[in-house]
Amino acid sequence: MSTDSTVLVQRQDYRSPDFAIDSVDLELFLRPQDTEVRSRLAIRRRNSGAKDLLLDGEGLELLSLSLDGEVLASDRYSFESGKLRISDVPEHFIVDSRVRIQPEANTALSGLYYADAVFLTQCEAEGFRRITWYPDRPDVLARFTVTLHAPKATCPILLSNGNCVATSEADNGWHWARWEDPFPKPCYLFAAVGGAFHVAKDQYVTGSGKKISLELHVAERDRDACEQALQSLKKAMAWDEEVYGREYDLDRYLIVATDSFNMGAMENKGLNIFNSKYVLASPETATDADYQGIESVIAHEYFHNWTGNRVTLRDWFQLSLKEGLTVFRDQEFSADMNSRGVQRIADVRRLRAAQFAEDASALAHPVRPESYKEINNFYTATVYEKGAEVIRMMHTLLGVEGFRAGTDLYFQRHDGQAVRIEELLDALATGSGRDLSGFLRWYSQAGTPRLKAEGHFDAENGRYHLRLQQHTPATPGQEQKLPVPIPVRLAFFYEDGRAARLPSGDEELVILLQDATQDWDFGPFPRAVIPSLLRGFSAPVLLERADAEAADAFLAQHDSDPFNRWDSLQRLAQKALLASIANPERSVLSTELQAAFAAALSQPLDDPAFSAELLSLPTEESIGQLMDPIDVDGIHVQREALRHALGDIFAEDWRHLYHDLAAPYRRDGRAMGTRRLRNLALYYAMGSAQAEEAQSWAERQYRSADNMTDRLAALQVLAFAPHYDADPLLSDFYQRWQSHPLIIDRWFSLQLGRAAPETLRRAQELLQHPAFSWRVPNRVRAVLAAFAANLPVFHASDGSGYRFYAQQIRHLDDLNPQTAARLATVFSRWSRYDEERQRQMRTVMEELLGKDGLSRDLGEILERSLGVSEERS
Ligand code: TRP
Ligand code: ZN
Repeated sequence: MSTDSTVLVQRQDYRSPDFAIDSVDLELFLRPQDTEVRSRLAIRRRNSGAKDLLLDGEGLELLSLSLDGEVLASDRYSFESGKLRISDVPEHFIVDSRVRIQPEANTALSGLYYADAVFLTQCEAEGFRRITWYPDRPDVLARFTVTLHAPKATCPILLSNGNCVATSEADNGWHWARWEDPFPKPCYLFAAVGGAFHVAKDQYVTGSGKKISLELHVAERDRDACEQALQSLKKAMAWDEEVYGREYDLDRYLIVATDSFNMGAMENKGLNIFNSKYVLASPETATDADYQGIESVIAHEYFHNWTGNRVTLRDWFQLSLKEGLTVFRDQEFSADMNSRGVQRIADVRRLRAAQFAEDASALAHPVRPESYKEINNFYTATVYEKGAEVIRMMHTLLGVEGFRAGTDLYFQRHDGQAVRIEELLDALATGSGRDLSGFLRWYSQAGTPRLKAEGHFDAENGRYHLRLQQHTPATPGQEQKLPVPIPVRLAFFYEDGRAARLPSGDEELVILLQDATQDWDFGPFPRAVIPSLLRGFSAPVLLERADAEAADAFLAQHDSDPFNRWDSLQRLAQKALLASIANPERSVLSTELQAAFAAALSQPLDDPAFSAELLSLPTEESIGQLMDPIDVDGIHVQREALRHALGDIFAEDWRHLYHDLAAPYRRDGRAMGTRRLRNLALYYAMGSAQAEEAQSWAERQYRSADNMTDRLAALQVLAFAPHYDADPLLSDFYQRWQSHPLIIDRWFSLQLGRAAPETLRRAQELLQHPAFSWRVPNRVRAVLAAFAANLPVFHASDGSGYRFYAQQIRHLDDLNPQTAARLATVFSRWSRYDEERQRQMRTVMEELLGKDGLSRDLGEILERSLGVSEERS
């Protein structure tokens, strides 16, 4: 098999680079089918034992190669599995190379590619080697000078990292621009762009008075959709100064938006490249969630300028050093910009949906993996989201000031360096004066710890006794697990719902569980108390409390911690659902759940977004995580039954909410929360006995909405309804928005949400639609990810969903391996289903594994999913 021959990269094999690159001079002649790249590298030996120079390259047609100005004889160099070896090189020397590449044929979107008449690059993680011969590793930092040549008519704008130092015109209609980046950087942060754009400009003045020009490059048709991105950028710049003391360091900050991008966005130094989904927004075209996504991704990439770029990675195993820390930073930024409680709920929901699922799958791996075949496969929820939780736990322990002292020291010590996770932990510990050594285990050990809590109130002495125990189940390749440090934030409540003050005077405290079992005593309290544990989700664990039954019913109504109140209510709903899945004769609505809903509905609406969170049903995925095996059909049926029961019992509430909350469009937090709650009311009404009437509300809302959030919400409830013919509205929607790719992505996905057998045929038809394109990842995901998210259809018992999906992955793998591999990870959870589905999933994976020209990306995901790789994590 092709993948067997590919190398397993091991963390322990790290060796520092033999050669340093003092400067890189790149010259690109941009032509869609035939781009020439000239490179001049000034190289210096670092390891006196090294005689030969090894450079990485992939798919490069070598035109010429010389050393210190002399063309190299063919016996001085050779090619070996993706490397160019130049033998017997001197101490200091210059290597000149010229290569030819084909941007238009580059459908993998890694390296230099050409899409929608624009030249773009994506070099993280290992795309630079698809542009020129180079030591493509993050610990080689070099100063870059880049000259871009292109026809002026089609590429009036030419961009790269740093400062534009010269431009000129040639007489053949071409022009060129030269860019110099004053900051040495690893090549994964290199970027170049050529094309025609509308440039939306703004300015930011830093705390020290430096004026920064902000320039957003978008397609001409999107000129009016730039405001949110620019505002978010300015907020992020101010926040990083205030909270971390970090200023921006170049005169210009450039962002380019493209529809053709594998991921969300990329933090290239001074020249971010973004999926247009995270840039473009106007009320008519973007939902409230889209606006918030832009705010958070713009901030994420901006924050990378310090956490990732100024301080970078020694090797790719350290990926979470930049990603975990930067996700933590963007989450905190969003919490400060919006409602902290609602933000935390959303972040934990994502963590559980993606990362807990990953930990429970064959792809479970530590935040810092020990080996990989294809690094692109490790841009995972574990590295990003769990990595952010580990930083958050340390932040919780150190407090705001201790943590800031730690990051100050980190930047002071390591600015301009390529470092490991150890360097961050050491700076945090030294800066704050706290011991954090136990936290390294969170980076090396995979799996979600189970935290068991048992406690009782002793009326004799008024003390509350708490015992905490931890245990992490085995994951592939890691049988034995050791205890990890778990900060538990907690508070106590009296039975009337009032908060109990501790003898210290505080209402909340943080304790640290470090051993397998530990005991605590709290109090004395004058009356019996009930603890609220793991407030704000203070550690990424699965909490099992012995008194869950009573505690959840109580906390769902009384907890003052928004996260815990929401979580308790979710658990009540999950418990009711699991009971009725096991015994469908039972009524799905429990009295505790009904009481909690009634309480949530009767509270004042001062935080409508939080109310909407409280009143939302657990997702089908999250219920599945609690089952073994997962009963896909039972989950869907009972969840719909619960929606129906709640829709009926609270019919009057939904009706009032729906009518009373109607308001003209505004875009502040309250207005967004209100829309969310109102659309939730519509959702319950549509699933209830008043469905027919609600249908007319939805139809009217679809037609008269003054914003995309409401229009799409109305269309969605109708399109997902089992017996409603939504086709006339869907074609109206298509007609209206056909020139907006991001909206048409939604149109594709919307048609795949109905839990009915004909959805498979709809998916097949959509792949034939003229607007479908295999070259645009957003469009491919709009169909395939939406299909896989429809659990009853994807997991159809005859295996038809799996076969359809696998066939598309097979096709996509030839064009875009990164995206194919990512989409294929849904199969990694095969062991969670019944035997027949297991067999069917394994069969399609095994068939894929035999595919001609299987990519390293997809091959690794399939091997690890099936457990056929020799080494793991
Ligand atoms: N570093 C990017 C981020 O901010 C991730 C990324 C963007 C990426 N494009 C990529 C990773 C392509 C791998 C391949 O999160
Ligand atoms: Zn990132």
